[in-house]
Amino acid sequence: MKKLKLLVINGPNLNFLGIREPEIYGKSTYQDLCNLISSKAAELNIDIEIYQSNHEGQIVDKIQEAYFNKVQGIIINPAAYTHTSIAILDALKSVNIPCIEVHISDINTREEFRKHSYISLASIKQIKGHGFNGYLEAIEYFDNLLNK
Ligand code: DQA
Repeated sequence: MKKLKLLVINGPNLNFLGIREPEIYGKSTYQDLCNLISSKAAELNIDIEIYQSNHEGQIVDKIQEAYFNKVQGIIINPAAYTHTSIAILDALKSVNIPCIEVHISDINTREEFRKHSYISLASIKQIKGHGFNGYLEAIEYFDNLLNK
């Protein structure tokens, strides 16, 4: 069977995991997160690319690239762009690739402005408040949805 092809996109400031607000996001680093995702993908025999950018337009470009690369599922933590970016929402709708939105913290129990997500309008599922484990749950969800 052909390997399932997934793309993980992390938005602004997630490269600062371990440094930024550890009381909210934990002490583990962005590299720790990448290692965790890679070993889960290896365990399930999934082809996975992990991408991080602090720039909205680059994230739009990456989503469009996924269309041409025949990516089957996108896992995205758009970080602050979750609450502001119609451009990322439109990009996700344009490519029509199933998308799972992940947040390390629980965006519903924080400031009011974090409760609204544009990205949820293009997502089949939102996972929030499960820490780094949320990414692994998203990988497993796609594995069950697309690989079984
Ligand atoms: C976040 C939550 C967002 O509100 C915030 O802007 C982030 C990270 C999370 O993973 O919990 O940068 O997406």
